[in-house]
Amino acid sequence: RVRFRYKSRMMHEPFPSFLAGRRDAIDARLQEALAPRAGFPERLREAMRYSLLAPGKRLRPLLVLLAAEACGSHGGGDPWPAALAVEMVHVYSLIHDDLPAMDDDDLRRGLPTCHVRYGEGLAILAGDALLTEAFALLAAAYSDPALCLELSLAAGASGMVGGQVDDLAMEAGQSERSLATLEAVHLRKTGALIRSCLRLGARAACCPQTPPRDVLERLDAYGRCLGLVFQITDDLLDVTGQSADTGKRVNKDAARNKLTYPGLLGVEESRQRAAQLVEEARRVIAPLAAPRLEELLTFVLHRDR
Ligand code: IPE
Ligand code: IPE
Ligand code: MG
Ligand code: MG
Ligand code: MG
Repeated sequence: RVRFRYKSRMMHEPFPSFLAGRRDAIDARLQEALAPRAGFPERLREAMRYSLLAPGKRLRPLLVLLAAEACGSHGGGDPWPAALAVEMVHVYSLIHDDLPAMDDDDLRRGLPTCHVRYGEGLAILAGDALLTEAFALLAAAYSDPALCLELSLAAGASGMVGGQVDDLAMEAGQSERSLATLEAVHLRKTGALIRSCLRLGARAACCPQTPPRDVLERLDAYGRCLGLVFQITDDLLDVTGQSADTGKRVNKDAARNKLTYPGLLGVEESRQRAAQLVEEARRVIAPLAAPRLEELLTFVLHRDR
């Protein structure tokens, strides 16, 4: 009886406190990652941990965990190595994105950026090492090679890195400033990794089996929408947000000639586009009965950080 009451309270836990609980659990696991070992320079470890443990929202690892849970009875595999791996890839991308040769930012997660704190050389290498470590985690944990492949496609030349290259080209005025180009950039520079979180979560949960095709396709379609919504709201926060909330400088995109949703469509139309995508994601995920994934959509749409 006591157990039943406890369970029903958990089911009605409000989303913000659910999120805070998961964030704490993720932070605890991240704390344990990157233990000292032979040949691992302490200064490098310090720089990696500085950026990895800085207070991020932990959206990507959360998505991995929630996608694994959405697999229900098909699952049971351990999603944690995949959850930690995607956060490592994400943090590597942030460190490199902030470098003077890229967005040249000095504030990230409310702290000086990695290169400001440790110098450019070590920051570049800390990013390199986080990226590499992520694949070691996946390779050691999962017998299904699809996980490594999934993450490398999402993070690599035709995914996140490809999108970052086009983002820089845009900033340099080398491409057409159209909605089609903008969407193509956002889908890869931010969308690809977010989308892969859902696929990885499902694959990790079902490993060594493959997730049911319908579940994987629905999670994937949800991830595509959410990834786009996430970058649209990131662009909006650069215009309408506060640095004290976002933990990074604001009003930088227009100054750097970035192609963004509010820059191209204006704030109102960008909000509408994001809301449309949220509805699309809600429809596609409905049959999976994954209430936290649904709640997350509203959270991302209205986020202030
Ligand atoms: C910022 O990502 C970079 C983008 C891809 C838009 P987040 O907004 O998820 O950053 P953290 O992890 O919370 O710091
Ligand atoms: C970053 O996009 C995407 C990646 C880090 C891959 P932004 O350049 O807009 O991210 P912020 O605003 O610096 O976090
Ligand atoms: Mg950038
Ligand atoms: Mg940036
Ligand atoms: Mg941004």
